[in-house]
Amino acid sequence: KNKIRIPTMEWSLCYVLYCHQCMYLLLPLGFLWGVGSSAYQTEGAWDKDGKGPSIWDAFTHKKGKVFMNETADSSCEGYYKVKDDIQLLKELKVNHYLLSISWPRIMPTGIKKEQVNEKGIKFYNDTINSLLENKIIPIVTLYHWDLPQVLQEKYGGWQNISMISYFNDYANLCFEKFGDRVKYWITFNNPWAVAEEGYETGEHAPGLKLSGIGAYKAAHHIIKTHAKVWHSYNKTWRSKQQGMVGISLTSAWGEPVDLTSQKDIEAAERYVQFYLGWFANPIYSGDYPEVMKNYVGRKSAQQGLGMSRLPTFSVQEKSYIKGTSDFLGLSHFTTRYIIQKNYSALKGPSYHTDRDLVELVDPKWPDPGSKWLYSVPWGFRRLLNFIKTQYGNPLIYVTENGVSEKLQCIQLCDEWRIEYLKGYINELLKAINDGVNVKGYTVWSLLDKFEWNKGYSERFGLYHVDFKKGNKPRYPKASVHYYKMIISANGFPNPREVKSWHQKAIETCSITNQLLAADPLTTHMEMVTEIVVPTVFTLCILISAILLMFLLRKHN
Ligand code: BGC
Repeated sequence: KNKIRIPTMEWSLCYVLYCHQCMYLLLPLGFLWGVGSSAYQTEGAWDKDGKGPSIWDAFTHKKGKVFMNETADSSCEGYYKVKDDIQLLKELKVNHYLLSISWPRIMPTGIKKEQVNEKGIKFYNDTINSLLENKIIPIVTLYHWDLPQVLQEKYGGWQNISMISYFNDYANLCFEKFGDRVKYWITFNNPWAVAEEGYETGEHAPGLKLSGIGAYKAAHHIIKTHAKVWHSYNKTWRSKQQGMVGISLTSAWGEPVDLTSQKDIEAAERYVQFYLGWFANPIYSGDYPEVMKNYVGRKSAQQGLGMSRLPTFSVQEKSYIKGTSDFLGLSHFTTRYIIQKNYSALKGPSYHTDRDLVELVDPKWPDPGSKWLYSVPWGFRRLLNFIKTQYGNPLIYVTENGVSEKLQCIQLCDEWRIEYLKGYINELLKAINDGVNVKGYTVWSLLDKFEWNKGYSERFGLYHVDFKKGNKPRYPKASVHYYKMIISANGFPNPREVKSWHQKAIETCSITNQLLAADPLTTHMEMVTEIVVPTVFTLCILISAILLMFLLRKHN
């Protein structure tokens, strides 16, 4: 319902100019190309080899929380298919693979002094070693949403300040066990979703609906935890291991609907500050964005509260948190148009109404898969430039960028993903040309996998996974061939070549599609040759033998 039509002339004009200046560029040498995945979404083996349950295991095992009540109990069976998946990475020729460690797989209750699961440690050790043997750099996320369930039950999860020390113990164990080989660490992936969807709307695990309060509190503890872990690494491990520790933040870009309206311009900025700035501002500047403090503070007062629902950092905390990121991981998928709208504080506390804005989309934007994911490449460049100016041009690795589809049948010719990647990578190139310090890019994601409360209904993979088959076979979509060409050329060399990649990718996927379509026929023929023919043959011999015996008897 929030769709509007936007006059596009201005954008097409810009686009022509930008295109003219910047399209078909190569990236600086040493730029890292990769793909990503996360533990809970792909590993399966949810209760195998000593793993403890996570909040996502508990959440998905309750009815009515996830689309079709699906779970990631077995998912892509990634736990058993590390070698196969590394072959896919080799096929793609990526420089890096972004993966996450499941906290409850290596600490079943989340508490180090209670138990460390050696089998879990071995699993990640083997994975990291295999990646390195294949010359693929592991970029490792410590927290991609799978909090040990015990910590949720005992302490209320991220609502509780004690998470800081439990998580710090876990992080230190990871640095100790894997830090000799892992040089890129990400403390948290998308803490915005952890806070907002886990503790505000309850759409994600642990499913708490603490509107207007829970998300701010969870985020506060996560930011402090991140800072603590960065300091631990800095003090104890950095000199020996020479790695980097960052955080991966997610943000859409917010564009004012009316560029001549000061109110819309401010609302759009507020949108990004409440999204990215909520986490990035404390880390780069020592405190929450001014605008967040003002808006949440004012609404809290109007609601008769004695203090703001947005917690505050002490002076010591501010200086402890400021500067705690060696790089910024950026996860970006889409853009929104924004207009200003006042919400009465009397409606009750809520992160969403605290912002006083409305999000809109242009119905012309392509949206092949997830309802929220419209392809708007130019927003990527604007967001990257915003980061450059707001946070002092930090080192950036793009940790997630990609698009989904909803098709459930095997359809490997994903032209919409090729178009999305072409558009977004091209805007990334322009941003680098603008001086934004991006050194790596990660397509989200390697495989189709469990998409949280959407179950398996949305597919983000470069590889299609057939979830109906027990061994979860993977098949390359056309985008595999396309992305592989971008990687080997280190960007876009010239229009003719880029067009030929597209054609080649579509040819290849059509052939694989045909082979797979013939699959049931092949299976049928195999059944005929392997079961029916030998059975008929044996029966014939038996009948002939019986007949022969019968004739011989008669003859005697
Ligand atoms: C999450 C991923 C998820 C993607 C698409 C990202 O913010 O980190 O785990 O697959 O959104 O829903």
